Amino acid sequence: MDTNQMPPEMKTISGFSKLSKRGKIKWIVENFFKDPENVMRELMSYWVQNEEQQKVLDGFSENTISNFVLPYGVAPNFLINDQMYCIPMVIEESSVVAAASHAAKFWMNRGGFKAEVISMVKEGQVHFIWPGKPEILRELFPKLRRELIEKTGYLTENMRQRGGGILDVELVDLTDKEPGYFQLRGKFDTRDSMGANFINTLLEEFSQHLKLFMSQQKQLPDNWQEVEVIMSILSNYTPECLVRASVSCRVSELDQAIKDMDGETFARRFYLAVKMAHWDPYRATTHNKGIFNGVDAVVLATGNDFRATEACGHTYASRTGQYASLSDCRIDEDTFHFWLDMPLAIGTTGGLTSLHPMAKRSLELLGNPNAEQLMQIIAATGLAQNFAAVKSLVTTGIQKGHMKMHLVNILTRMDASEREVKEAIVYFKDKVVSFQSVREFLDVIRNNPPENQQILA
Ligand code: MEV
Repeated sequence: MDTNQMPPEMKTISGFSKLSKRGKIKWIVENFFKDPENVMRELMSYWVQNEEQQKVLDGFSENTISNFVLPYGVAPNFLINDQMYCIPMVIEESSVVAAASHAAKFWMNRGGFKAEVISMVKEGQVHFIWPGKPEILRELFPKLRRELIEKTGYLTENMRQRGGGILDVELVDLTDKEPGYFQLRGKFDTRDSMGANFINTLLEEFSQHLKLFMSQQKQLPDNWQEVEVIMSILSNYTPECLVRASVSCRVSELDQAIKDMDGETFARRFYLAVKMAHWDPYRATTHNKGIFNGVDAVVLATGNDFRATEACGHTYASRTGQYASLSDCRIDEDTFHFWLDMPLAIGTTGGLTSLHPMAKRSLELLGNPNAEQLMQIIAATGLAQNFAAVKSLVTTGIQKGHMKMHLVNILTRMDASEREVKEAIVYFKDKVVSFQSVREFLDVIRNNPPENQQILA
């Protein structure tokens, strides 16, 4: 029977999470696939052979049945703040790693990337409803603030020893949005950890203490002694956890950026392309996507949270009220400047960074950076990627580079031999690549002796 036409009850199960891994796979293949035995074999073929390592992977998430493998590549020759890096990148999109490598080499010969961390502050909020007068809460707040910091001292001790901890707690009045809506807004320095657990634990403790504190204010009317906490959670928007990466060179040094285009023309076209991503959100989204091609690949390779960095980056890109480019460009006299400012809440200790065997290796490859150094490396990779994309767009167009990879992907899907791939690359150098055209090409060379292959002429 076609699995898609099965009655829904056949596809439901209770107690799935309690099944063994094999049991889970068995239920899945029997209910959702036409060829259960082969699918089972295939899913299991992606298990890591070393059982201990597989156990570690299984432990990250629930209902794990297999591993989803993505390419792990490296982009060498990144000169960042006068240090050489070989950057690990986990990404499925063809041309991204090659583009990063080209851009890295290009800037290596022009002084490299400069990067600096501007600030390292993260935030979180306790959102609560309190029916009293805002000025009364404001009066009580300095005492509450002191107590919040003191009473959570046992939770912050280790972090304080490492130079981090709670930087501030503010009271925010949002009663213009909703009667009684206030926030406790905490600011934190989590040093080399991303700090999500640290911040969320503190916020939940703040919320408990807030309720206790208000219940002790016996001078207030009874209903003002009660606080309704709606939620306590970190914010993934961290505009004060900010890094800048930049490159600059003489315009004349861009003469070799591309054949048949002088540096001045290239700089002008590049500048306009970046400005277009400031003026038009449609262009900005694609432009920033190019930046995240680099950023996400390193964030993933180092076991960091790419959903958090994406969400934050896009909010930051909208901070003026219009979504715009995260990078910017300026031409002063005869100097070309290109830079990227972005918030990045990442870590180099704790979480997956210490648990995932490949994340640990990525950090080792990068010389075991601290969080500030990793922010700089990630931002430089994002800038390199953005440079490579915009450079292609304002010169040859991106399809030229993409098509070669696309061609190889199509050939692989059509089981082309090594010789066929080589011949196809030569043949399609100046032709449009499509499934149809590649199939026709293969048909001709597979079905005809070389002397009859007119299509290839
Ligand atoms: C493709 O993954 C990324 C680009 O579209 C970025 C850009 O347009 O700037 C090439």
